[in-house]
Amino acid sequence: MSTSEQANQLYVPSDATVKAAHVSGMEAYRKLCEEAEADYEGYWARLAKEFVTWKQPFTKVLNDSNAPFFKWFEDGLLNVSYNCLDRNVEQGRGDKVAIIFESDDGQVTRVTYRELLEKTCRMANGLRELGVKKGDRVVIYMPMSVEGVVAMQACARIGATHSVVFGGFSAQSLRDRIQDAGAVLVITADEQMRGGKQLPLKAIVDEALGMGGCDTVRNVLVYRRTGGNIAWNARDVWLHEVLAKQATTCEPEWVDAEHPLFLLYTSGSTGKPKGVQHSSGGYLLQAALSTKWTFDLKPEDVFWCTADIGWVTGHTYIAYGPLANGATQIVFEGVPTWPDAGRFWKMIQQHKVTIFYTAPTAIRSLIKAAEANPATHPRNYDLSSLRILGSVGEPINPAAWEWYYRNVGGSRCPIVDTWWQTETGAHMITPLPGATPLVPGSCTLPFPGIMAAVVDETGADVPNGQGGVLVIKKPWPSMIRTIWGDPERFKKSYYPADFQGRYYLAGDGAVRDANTGYFTITGRIDDVLNVSGHRMGTMEIESALVSCTELVAEAAVVGRPDETTGEAICAFVVLKRPRPTGEEAKKIADELRAWVAKEIGPIAKPKDIRFGDNLPKTRSGKIMRRLLRSIARGEQITQDTSTLENPAILEQLAQSN
Ligand code: WT7
Repeated sequence: MSTSEQANQLYVPSDATVKAAHVSGMEAYRKLCEEAEADYEGYWARLAKEFVTWKQPFTKVLNDSNAPFFKWFEDGLLNVSYNCLDRNVEQGRGDKVAIIFESDDGQVTRVTYRELLEKTCRMANGLRELGVKKGDRVVIYMPMSVEGVVAMQACARIGATHSVVFGGFSAQSLRDRIQDAGAVLVITADEQMRGGKQLPLKAIVDEALGMGGCDTVRNVLVYRRTGGNIAWNARDVWLHEVLAKQATTCEPEWVDAEHPLFLLYTSGSTGKPKGVQHSSGGYLLQAALSTKWTFDLKPEDVFWCTADIGWVTGHTYIAYGPLANGATQIVFEGVPTWPDAGRFWKMIQQHKVTIFYTAPTAIRSLIKAAEANPATHPRNYDLSSLRILGSVGEPINPAAWEWYYRNVGGSRCPIVDTWWQTETGAHMITPLPGATPLVPGSCTLPFPGIMAAVVDETGADVPNGQGGVLVIKKPWPSMIRTIWGDPERFKKSYYPADFQGRYYLAGDGAVRDANTGYFTITGRIDDVLNVSGHRMGTMEIESALVSCTELVAEAAVVGRPDETTGEAICAFVVLKRPRPTGEEAKKIADELRAWVAKEIGPIAKPKDIRFGDNLPKTRSGKIMRRLLRSIARGEQITQDTSTLENPAILEQLAQSN
């Protein structure tokens, strides 16, 4: 989004909102920032004592002796599940509802903190019975469910490191992750329900394990969700059978603060997805803290983050942050457009949701749906319970922001546009609802204690009003610790030599407003696309395409702006047969889309596929992606094409849509 699109109007929080807020007014915000500036370690140590219950208190705060492999609170001992569950029961919240689960078909189940603790203990005991030990990796491939959250908490309880794989990923993607993580156990369900349809999960696990290379996996633990027909193997175990014999108490495994709580795979600009490794202590601190401050969370709130537990948002703002605060939250199995596009609004009304956190792509598709079918417009529902709205995953364009603000928030609820990443673990740049005046399209200012800045390629600060690359100048507690099994890639990706390894490189471009200093994210600076808030590496899609060796000789993938999904995937493909046109081109394009869905998952399917006799290349054979980006956008080529080996190809590709 260009800054000229940025609206000039400031939305100032009401006096009542400011007065009641945890961080009350800009003065309070600035004071926190100053506290962090003056004594960085002291600031984080104070909060780590306030937000985390330690079995053994830490005496060291930040250890930067082996930068960029930073350690936080390293001699402290804790258990994350204890902090999310037992602590709430011990403090008198045992009968408070922790999770309001709504299934795809609208059935509602309520689980109290006491029940959630018991479920977690039983599952943790079950994992131990299956031989899962501290430090083992467990892959979770589950639908949105109470059991999915319990599986994560149960791993945390026994010190196993979980790696949740989104249920939309293919067998191939699942296998790569199981293999890279060296998992000993896969937890899955027979099937999942989405939009009234039964979709396979267990069958995909079987397929993934059948591909070989996953010898570390001893068992597959299966939650019965639909009762659908599935194949059964010697390694398979029913979850309900294991749970039936387990005690409802389970001594937590006390781990040190740096113990890896989870790995979460995400796309980079090159190579295979990387296993982002997170810690226990520092991660929990910022999950808990940001849930409380960014959403101004109060005991009586009903919190709803619509993300899937397969993404980092579902880790920090479903599985950990809300529970660490003893909040009541919604867990939703279904999709926003089924049975119709009023589903979210109906659920907010029914459950009296007060804090609602979703993605711009969902908002944009619901705007479209409401235009097509006015019965699904939010004005048909009572949304007066809402207090705070949130946005995450991609830049929110001002038009969508305004619609969300007026039609969902009734022009009364602050919108927190939260910028962060899988790697950052928690919000980095975001408004605080009782403090920050809002500007549509801007994620505003850093969370107190986060040293975000915009710099040039050499790492020098650029003046406000000038674009540059987004960096974080100091390590923070919930940051990525390493890439699982590849510390060199961690260093190269996030602490590159260009900045003498001093700053964390986010991979996004940004600009700060000349007057307010507010940040606006201008998009990725690497070959990573953001499609509906999902991160996709262009190289990953390219290798999926060329792995279709029967058809594809060569492929190049770029992004182009899309009204609904933010960015859309465009593939330029050279086939091993003459360039197809008309119906034949359509047919092959569909085949290739299905192929990519099978290789990676449906979210990676290219929207546009264009066929050419060749790709635009320099004389040295390098594909000129910037030209492809222009063609994908339907722009005239104004760039210099003199280094191009085969200029005629541009014309052909431009017409091949
Ligand atoms: C990338 C991280 C953050 C959790 C979900 C996505 C983009 C994220 C915003 C925002 C503009 C945003 C960035 C970032 N992004 N939030 N509020 N405004 N861009 O996590 O899959 O790790 O993707 O999403 O490009 O680098 P992720």
